[in-house]
Amino acid sequence: MKEGTRKFINTPLKIGNRVIEGRLLLAPMSGLTHVAYRELLDGYGGCGLLYTEMCSARSIPQENRYVSPVFRWRNEELSRLVCQIFGPDPEIMVSAAKRVEVEGFFGVDLNFGCSVAAICKKNSGAALLKTPDLAVKMVRDVRTAVDIPLTVKFRTGWEDRPDLAVDLARRFEDAGADALIFHPRVAPDRRSRPPKWKYIREVKQAVSIPVFGNGEVFTEDDCEKMIETTGCDGVSLGRIAIAKPWVFSEWSHGCAVDLETYRNSFKQMILLFSKHYEPTPAIRKFKKMAVYNAAVFQFGHSFSKKLCRANDFSEMASVVDAFFDESPELNGRPNLNLFC
Ligand SMILES: Cc1cc2nc3c(=O)[nH]c(=O)nc-3n(C[C@H](O)[C@H](O)[C@H](O)COP(=O)(O)O)c2cc1C
Repeated sequence: MKEGTRKFINTPLKIGNRVIEGRLLLAPMSGLTHVAYRELLDGYGGCGLLYTEMCSARSIPQENRYVSPVFRWRNEELSRLVCQIFGPDPEIMVSAAKRVEVEGFFGVDLNFGCSVAAICKKNSGAALLKTPDLAVKMVRDVRTAVDIPLTVKFRTGWEDRPDLAVDLARRFEDAGADALIFHPRVAPDRRSRPPKWKYIREVKQAVSIPVFGNGEVFTEDDCEKMIETTGCDGVSLGRIAIAKPWVFSEWSHGCAVDLETYRNSFKQMILLFSKHYEPTPAIRKFKKMAVYNAAVFQFGHSFSKKLCRANDFSEMASVVDAFFDESPELNGRPNLNLFC
């Protein structure tokens, strides 16, 4: 990472009425950015803002934080944690955002990006990009209802029309959004083609609120290139943050990483997943994450298969040790199109 880029990603940035200390954000990821993973990530540091998994706005008002699998947090992370909500109508989003504010989160994020059928069928996520007036109304109503920072995560739309995304970005800003996280892919495209970073530049140039670019930033070079070519205010990291939870610290502070970092991260995961979840969901969540961790290694596929076949954490710990005792080689550029 060039010194100038490192300085940039460590430059504080105002989002609404709050300031973040670094410009690398965690992207929200369902089944992955849960409380246990975020504790692991926090141990390394360097992340400007944490995001929850997407949470159903309909459920949030009556959710119990100690029971809910997704609307759950540690008090220590709350001042840097954004809760992402999805839902089909402004009233539901407003009620959820109010609870998010009362609980003391840094901010609330509206999900206009998820194109998974189960979410779109409920007129939520990326489906709202088909009814821009409704999406804009949600932003305006939530803005009126809460004072905490309001971010919007969205994608290009349902057609390869950057002009529509640019227009929507302006309307989100006018409606009171404090920052945008933009993933430049069309909605039916589930990561099969590269994201079009040049659209991030267009969105950035159209608004005056901070814009975070998102999509296939897997290496320091990618990060540098996204910042330089799009002029974005920061970068939202998804799958690479799961594969390498120390990536924020590595890129923003230059912390040293070796094979023991990888081994220790697996061991920490075992402890933290057991701390936050009952054994069955803990093991399921661990396996889901481990596929990403293993993908950065040559022969990672066979490693992750062995992990997925293991029945409990003590078997998994043995698989991890056996793998790292052989000094495995890392892949140059990880393939994180895993669809698991
Ligand atoms: C398993 C998985 C779950 C995801 N869940 C969400 C989600 O809950 N909300 C959301 O806005 N995006 C979600 N995304 C999209 C990511 O936030 C991000 O936009 C996408 O992975 C591209 O970034 P990346 O190339 O850095 O991974 C998900 C992605 C993955 C791989």
